[in-house]
Amino acid sequence: MADDVSVSILEMFVLEAMIPHAFVFQGSVNDLISMLANVDHPPEQLVVDVSKSAMPHTDLANLANVCPPGVSVVVVGERNDIGLFRELLRMGVDDYIVKPLTMDLLHRVMGRLNGRSEPVHQIRTGKLVACLGSRGGVGTSTVAANMGWRLARDLERRVAVIDLDPFGGSLDILLGSQNNKGLADLLKNINQLDPHYVERSFVQVAPRLFLLSARYDLGEAGVLPAKSLNMLLVELKKLFHYVILDLPCRGGEIAASLVNAAETVVVVTEPSVISTRETVRLLQLAELRDTKVPVMVVVNQPNQPGRAELRLPDFEAAVGRRILHVLPFDRDAAGLGENIGPPVVAGKGPLAQAMRRLVDDLAGRHLEANAANVPFWRRLPALGKFLKLGG
Ligand SMILES: Nc1ncnc2c1ncn2[C@@H]1O[C@H](COP(=O)(O)OP(=O)(O)OP(=O)(O)O)[C@@H](O)[C@H]1O
Ligand SMILES: [Mg+2]
Repeated sequence: MADDVSVSILEMFVLEAMIPHAFVFQGSVNDLISMLANVDHPPEQLVVDVSKSAMPHTDLANLANVCPPGVSVVVVGERNDIGLFRELLRMGVDDYIVKPLTMDLLHRVMGRLNGRSEPVHQIRTGKLVACLGSRGGVGTSTVAANMGWRLARDLERRVAVIDLDPFGGSLDILLGSQNNKGLADLLKNINQLDPHYVERSFVQVAPRLFLLSARYDLGEAGVLPAKSLNMLLVELKKLFHYVILDLPCRGGEIAASLVNAAETVVVVTEPSVISTRETVRLLQLAELRDTKVPVMVVVNQPNQPGRAELRLPDFEAAVGRRILHVLPFDRDAAGLGENIGPPVVAGKGPLAQAMRRLVDDLAGRHLEANAANVPFWRRLPALGKFLKLGG
């Protein structure tokens, strides 16, 4: 709250309503933002006072960046303005209370919000990013791990990275973390999810970065149930700004349903004949959706470029789509990121830089610069020449 009178009323309300784990303090929206940026467990509900804020919209947009989408937000202000109220609702705020605060007002608004299980305006939800590879070993897990790392560490988003290899893929090692079979457990108990149970099933990798993975024994059937997985993802999108999926294969029920559910599909590929053909098939899979989905085609170079590979312009012509990003071959950087850590994106060098550009693009940072859809290797003639293989 911005003033001490509101602080005392809210404190009284919290006591009277017996709200557990409540915390009331006096400060600005920015104070709240810095506090939230440093907590691992976000609150379920926020009441934030914008009356001293010079630019309430900007402050609330900044707040949304540190506060997971599922958190219910009630804004307190001084202006009794229907235009402002409407705009706040559009931003995903649950309610707007005009000062002075009274116990009665708080009981009415908060009682109504707490009496239902879903916020009225589920406008803000996290973004589901599905990473698929055109073939094994093309670098899908490397891309997913680095994406999660940069979004959480550098761009300060709350991020879940999910390893969908039922037998446990390489994400735990890529992120210097562990597999705890949390995904298998959650899917088994899909009808008993609550936010605390969901959080406990993740392994925390770094501040704001969480990993979920299964590890069925190799002798087990190891099939992830697609329906339960979709139900879980709906819940996860309320708790995280980004839910990054590392899909171990490009086909089947799970791949099809997740390509269908994703807000962005990242196709990791390389300029071989097989990958060209499979990239076309993956693009077709994404096109089957009712609603159009942004697809990022990322050409990775996990192997030393060879003369027998397709030239990038030929690859583009064959798949009928511009390559958005090229990740150059760098065995040392990739090996260091994989075996010793931290992920390559945390370091220096061309591969780290390219990885950062990719993630920033995904987070909408450089979309303007890329509006003409010019891949960066086209804008850097020297690198472009280097990458035009085989010719
Ligand atoms: N740009 C690159 N330069 C050099 N090596 C790379 C590059 N990208 C990935 N690698 C290496 O390629 C190998 C395969 O990468 P990764 O495990 O990410 O692929 P994947 O597609 O997830 O494989 P899988 O099909 O086994 O799941 C790893 O050893 C990784 O370090
Ligand atoms: Mg993998």
